[in-house]
Amino acid sequence: QKEGYRFFMEKEIYEQSTVIGDTMLGRVLEDRVEFEELDPSLFEGIRSIKICACGTSYHAGLTGAYLLERLAKIPCQVEIASEFRYKEPLLTPDTLFIVISQSGETADTLEALKMAKRAGLKSLSICNVDNSSIVRESDATILTRAGIEKGVASTKAFATQVMVLWMLTLYLGQKHRTLAPETLAKELDAMRHTPRALLVEEKLHEKLHRLSKRYLHGHGFFFIGRDLFFPLALEGALKLKEISYLHAEGYPAGEMKHGPIALADAELFTIALMPKTLLYDKIKSNVEELSARDATILAISPEEFELADDFVRTKNGDHPMLEFFEMMVVTQLLALEISIRLGNDVDMPRNLAKSVTVE
Ligand code: F6R
Repeated sequence: QKEGYRFFMEKEIYEQSTVIGDTMLGRVLEDRVEFEELDPSLFEGIRSIKICACGTSYHAGLTGAYLLERLAKIPCQVEIASEFRYKEPLLTPDTLFIVISQSGETADTLEALKMAKRAGLKSLSICNVDNSSIVRESDATILTRAGIEKGVASTKAFATQVMVLWMLTLYLGQKHRTLAPETLAKELDAMRHTPRALLVEEKLHEKLHRLSKRYLHGHGFFFIGRDLFFPLALEGALKLKEISYLHAEGYPAGEMKHGPIALADAELFTIALMPKTLLYDKIKSNVEELSARDATILAISPEEFELADDFVRTKNGDHPMLEFFEMMVVTQLLALEISIRLGNDVDMPRNLAKSVTVE
């Protein structure tokens, strides 16, 4: 079933281009986004959104919040389900409660959903498994259509969750007329190019295979990014630690100088997400500060960066989301190759289960 790939995770990384096409099918139309499965009354009276999830799905939620606020102009907060449940949150019925879950069975996310329902909130789940507990419990569902994901480390499910949140942003931006027609057209155009941005080129995979050798030892990894690329940094770090058992942290690049830069030396590996279309100069100066303190830098960017020790060039420097998806693939392949080189079982990392049904 691995169809020539060494691990399911590898196969699932390569499948992303196709499954993203499936996620968009019948939903991304010529001039708008439609969700047949959604009754428009779900959004009546809604003034803000709260997203709740765990792990990788939480990172997708964080990404979605940047999009929803920036493009659809809807205030949006994101919460880790296990925190949300016990913080005695103040909930008002003008908030739409969105839960994100690949499996649809995560105990903390399911319980958070039940809590929000008891408080009278309307709910929407973004889920990969139809008829799962979370789907059954929520008022409405958008299925991510990633297909079965076997690798414990989530890849294609994350990609489709982010895509659904991007689509939902445009859908709400259209509905509430908060999205200018030219912006909508530009977003739709970029969206249609996403399957292409997710294609894995052999040369890129080979490069990451070669690079992985250098990044096996050291004090640990910082994945840094800004804006949309901060949640991607968190996700890149999570993927690496899950399957390589190396210490990795995701950090907002602008925060490094508020503490973590004290760790910088040649043994500190910094994976810098440097998109051209979003705050390039800002992230560049953050990386320059790290380089001046001798950190080893792997820069991922469409722009050549002289101070980098290693450099992975990405192509899609014309829209932040295309850069996001392309850099996502790079971080996934890096984690995969490091894990394989260490001889780990990529698909079944120690101490982890695919579905976390206990709290
Ligand atoms: C990491 C990973 C986990 C899950 C988390 C939530 O690769 O897969 O962090 O994202 O356990 O699971 P779901 O999305 O099934 O609710």
